[in-house]
Amino acid sequence: MLNPDDIKAHLKTTRIGRDVIVYASTASTNDAAWHYAANKENDGLVVFAEQQSAGRGRGGNTWLSQKSQSILCSILLINETCQPEMLTLAAAVAVAEAIGRCGSKQARIKWPNDILINGKKTAGILLESKRSKGNFNCVIGIGINCHQKKDSFPVELRQTATSIDIESKTTCDRISLAKRLLISLDDWLIEAKNNEAAILDRWYQLCAQLGRRVTLSYNRRSFTGRVLGIDPREGLIVQLEKGGVRMFSAAHTTMVRSGD
Ligand code: BTN
Repeated sequence: MLNPDDIKAHLKTTRIGRDVIVYASTASTNDAAWHYAANKENDGLVVFAEQQSAGRGRGGNTWLSQKSQSILCSILLINETCQPEMLTLAAAVAVAEAIGRCGSKQARIKWPNDILINGKKTAGILLESKRSKGNFNCVIGIGINCHQKKDSFPVELRQTATSIDIESKTTCDRISLAKRLLISLDDWLIEAKNNEAAILDRWYQLCAQLGRRVTLSYNRRSFTGRVLGIDPREGLIVQLEKGGVRMFSAAHTTMVRSGD
């Protein structure tokens, strides 16, 4: 079982994980984190749960998880000065690095917020933001599949979803992974403020789609083209097959097909 003392032991972070809470079960760790947003002392708080009854994914999807099989956590950022697009890039880099350092195979980023091992989804990130009393507050929700077996996933997801254990053929240590994740987030969120170029460099190294053919759905219209890169404010830059270059913001775009 996860517990706050193990996660916080010798954790040398400056902002992320200054306080850590672990719930045995909650509806969504994102909702739990939002409950603490009224007090600015809670900046950097991380809420973990062993189980969620109403885990949320992007685009109104449900995030399914069985008890104690995953890392399910949400990080509260109060009065954040970085833009959500930049935070999403930083979080994706941090999650991919943390998984990669956990003895597993290298994890890659599928824009905007999927983390893949061997081309299959292993983790997802859900960034939520709210303005309150002049502050811009964010919650970064992260779900990492750790101990799931193939048949833990619904049939329709078995070709596209995986876990660290399946891909690395070992049993990952969730406490070590949680600590690495908080350290990695702490480092990359500092870079997001001071050194955007460093985030972009690392993002390009870890991106699974650069130069690949993708099909995107934007405002219910379909666009196909090759990924040229990322703009930290405007989103994914795509050379369209029908001509022209276009940017796609993460907030309004769904990846329909990726990787030819
Ligand atoms: C996605 O890929 O669609 C994003 C999934 C994010 C899931 C995590 S699990 C912890 C946190 N709490 C939630 O309700 N969602 C995020």
